Amino acid sequence: MEAYTVVFDHLHHLGPGDSATTRDLVERLGSDLSPGSRVADFGCGVGASALVLAQCLPEARVLALDSHAPFIARLEAAASVRGLEERVTAVVGDMADPPALDGVMGEFGLIWSESAIYSMGRSNAFNCWRPLLKPGGWLVFSDIIWQCKPAARSAKASAFWDKEYPDITTAADVVDELTAAGLKPIDSVLSTRNAWSNYYEPLRDRLRQLRKGGDHPQALINIIAEFEREIDVYDSAGDNVALSFFLAQREFIPE
Ligand SMILES: C[S@@+](CC[C@H](N)C(=O)[O-])C[C@H]1O[C@@H](n2cnc3c(N)ncnc32)[C@H](O)[C@@H]1O
Repeated sequence: MEAYTVVFDHLHHLGPGDSATTRDLVERLGSDLSPGSRVADFGCGVGASALVLAQCLPEARVLALDSHAPFIARLEAAASVRGLEERVTAVVGDMADPPALDGVMGEFGLIWSESAIYSMGRSNAFNCWRPLLKPGGWLVFSDIIWQCKPAARSAKASAFWDKEYPDITTAADVVDELTAAGLKPIDSVLSTRNAWSNYYEPLRDRLRQLRKGGDHPQALINIIAEFEREIDVYDSAGDNVALSFFLAQREFIPE
């Protein structure tokens, strides 16, 4: 993880993401959330979406959770610079087993997660997070999906994504998985290509800088090579996949 801290030093998006799309979706949901709603951002990284959530929902309390302490430290500093430290609680923890903070069980009006659900698996995430939502509460997450049929996929993209993300599937399958998990799919929204360039272009520059830097521990050299391979797939077949947001609700259970 130390190698990730070095690679992501000064990067804002730690995965594909686009603040404009985040803002549009938060604003769309804003009127549905009651004042003082609890909002969680799981796998928040250094705060690319948590800060937007806090800014766009001025009456919400945001719990930002990530397993990597240095990311949480950066998020705390960024929230403080923006005067958001009162409403953003940044916590080191496991989103597969979120800490019982403030009695959160069953109380979130909105659980958000960008480019992080892959690390615990969607169905695991749906099962863990559904009970944390209030009835009627929202789950919004972004995930990488196949954008073209198997026959149209480049061999390089198939080999890469099937190995690195075996859970990758189509948007239609994700919607079915939500339904099977007892969540009501409301919409799916494709991100623009900016979501990818926002992530890969600063990362590409950072990798070049590190390559020039010389003597690195083997763990860092390996991670640099892994990211370079990923960027190579993006350069040659980036349009085979898309980043999609999925919006779902925990249904009200009739009395
Ligand atoms: C690709 S990054 C995305 C970060 C951020 N959402 C963004 O878009 O910039 C995935 C994040 O998930 C975090 N993560 C992975 N597994 C986790 C877990 N089990 N619990 C909490 N955070 C986790 C990683 O530390 C990392 O910060």
